[in-house]
Amino acid sequence: QEMDQGQGQKRILQAAEALVKEKLERDSSGHDWWHIYRVVQTTKRIAAMEGADSFVCELAALLHDVADEKLNPDPAAAQRELEHWLAASGTPAAQVQHVLEIISTMSFKGGARPPMRTLEGQVVQDADRLDAIGAVGISRVFAYSGWKGRPIHDPSVTVREHMTEAEYRSGNDTAINHFYEKLLKLKELMNTAYARKMAEERHNFMEQYLTQFYAEWEGEK
Ligand code: ADP
Ligand code: NI
Repeated sequence: QEMDQGQGQKRILQAAEALVKEKLERDSSGHDWWHIYRVVQTTKRIAAMEGADSFVCELAALLHDVADEKLNPDPAAAQRELEHWLAASGTPAAQVQHVLEIISTMSFKGGARPPMRTLEGQVVQDADRLDAIGAVGISRVFAYSGWKGRPIHDPSVTVREHMTEAEYRSGNDTAINHFYEKLLKLKELMNTAYARKMAEERHNFMEQYLTQFYAEWEGEK
């Protein structure tokens, strides 16, 4: 019985992986397959350390961006597609609901973001946020900024914690400024103790990076 369940779960995770790879291959917005890969790897580690249900965590991590509005011209249709896929995947109904709840809470846009209700959701959200900080996070900021045509740094723009909506839309933003807008705040948002420990290390790395960056900017190092 245990063996059968394990085999079934493995097949579902493999099918989910194939679905996501197929879908993200055509993506150019920076939400590539390797982001999903890293979030899955980090999710597995945190789930093991925190005693979360690894199947639900891994399935939610794999599928967390497939219905995202940045990837889909019609997000509602993508959401329906995801629901149909899950219903037909052989995943028990309660776990389907759990995975869908995690994904919708993670992609919640706007103010009053609801907190993650379950440990599994907290784990996957932490893993996604961890991918925005540290060495990988630094790489992603510059990749995203370049894609948007924004400068690396402009001392007259930084350091500003809050931009107005108009400034933001006018593209008056830099890669370095994004550290202050978002990345340096993520450490405080970790749900689980183990992720907080990982975030601490990645956060310190970013602080060191910024110190070196400003020194080089002035020709001091
Ligand atoms: P998520 O993967 O959680 O949906 P986003 O789509 O908001 O994250 O961002 C994807 C990546 O692009 C992240 O690593 C983020 O730091 C980076 N990014 C998002 N907005 C900006 C910005 N204004 N300037 C620079 N980088 C950004
Ligand atoms: Ni993500």
